[in-house]
Amino acid sequence: MSDEKIQGAGTITEEAPAGENTVEVTFLPEGKTVRFEHGKLPYEDHGKEESILDVALNYGVPLDHACGGNCACTTCHVWVKEGVENLSPMDDDEADRLDMAADLQLNSRLGCQVQIVKPGKVVVEVPAWNRNYVSEEQH
Ligand code: FES
Repeated sequence: MSDEKIQGAGTITEEAPAGENTVEVTFLPEGKTVRFEHGKLPYEDHGKEESILDVALNYGVPLDHACGGNCACTTCHVWVKEGVENLSPMDDDEADRLDMAADLQLNSRLGCQVQIVKPGKVVVEVPAWNRNYVSEEQH
């Protein structure tokens, strides 16, 4: 189980001491930061392994995933604020699906498809309409 500490406005959940293989992901706007060892995150059965959705599910961060992480909706849409160099490149399926997303930005990714591919820091923002949103219709 995790060991949560309040630091400033955000919460840091540490499961591994910071080291050269540490991944640190911050979810905005909550400011919740989680740390784990790259390649050691337990898979939570939705989306690609060590995806942003997988991280969110591991640490109880609300991130909707109406299609179950199968690149078939846009409810897991996030904006990457930092650390794009630590993330997988976008493939055609993700790009095609993202074209249907609301509030599309240059830094938009699907949380279930974008994987952490190397240790380091990543900051993502979950759009307000995506948090605890039950998707019944798509734009
Ligand atoms: S959960 Fe549906 S595309 Fe990511």
